[in-house]
Amino acid sequence: MPNSERSSGRRFDHDYGVTTHAVLFLTDLEPEAVGDAGAHATHYEAVPVAEFHALLAHVPPDIVARSTFVDIGAGMGRAMLLASEYPFRQVCGVEVSPSLYEVAKENLASARPLRRRCNDLRPVRADARIWTYPPGDLVVFLFNPFDAEALRAALASIRGRRRAGETWILYHTPVERAELDAYDDIVVVAEERFGLVARAAAPGG
Ligand SMILES: C[S@@+](CC[C@H](N)C(=O)[O-])C[C@H]1O[C@@H](n2cnc3c(N)ncnc32)[C@H](O)[C@@H]1O
Repeated sequence: MPNSERSSGRRFDHDYGVTTHAVLFLTDLEPEAVGDAGAHATHYEAVPVAEFHALLAHVPPDIVARSTFVDIGAGMGRAMLLASEYPFRQVCGVEVSPSLYEVAKENLASARPLRRRCNDLRPVRADARIWTYPPGDLVVFLFNPFDAEALRAALASIRGRRRAGETWILYHTPVERAELDAYDDIVVVAEERFGLVARAAAPGG
């Protein structure tokens, strides 16, 4: 991790009064509780603050205003806190690790609401591969949470949700981007050095 990212991460924690800055391996934390998800997971690391905002800047404001944000692999909740600075309808975060989920809950409850524009924050302890994703328009965020097989499963769950709307995918460190290419209707609309933004229109839309 470059020094500038390390210091902006520490500054984030200081400003918000939370703990998100860490690098942890899921299988070292609680192998039994995460089960088979551990074999597909990468590691915990919080998203660099400026890069999160840079990816979200590609999503038009009217989409933000009518969408639910979902952090796939919410870790300690940093991306959820950053997303709460935008006027989403709701901000969810799905995390498979019980201990990271507990930290995220504490962070969300105790964080200083510095620039808060969405107050409906919902951390969820679940496996993002098989979670029931919310209906309607979604902006999903992935900071390289897992391997291709797990991403394929999560995409199938997202696309199979009830009353699916438009889906925007913010993918930081998109090492498994070939999984997106498998769908004709998922179009990459922007690329940054560190990630991409893709869009899938609503079914029939
Ligand atoms: C690189 S961290 C990203 C943390 C957070 N999104 C952020 O940007 O600050 C990836 C997270 O994905 C979680 N994860 C991995 N596999 C998962 C799964 N199947 N379901 C839910 N969370 C998962 C890990 O526990 C880890 O917290």
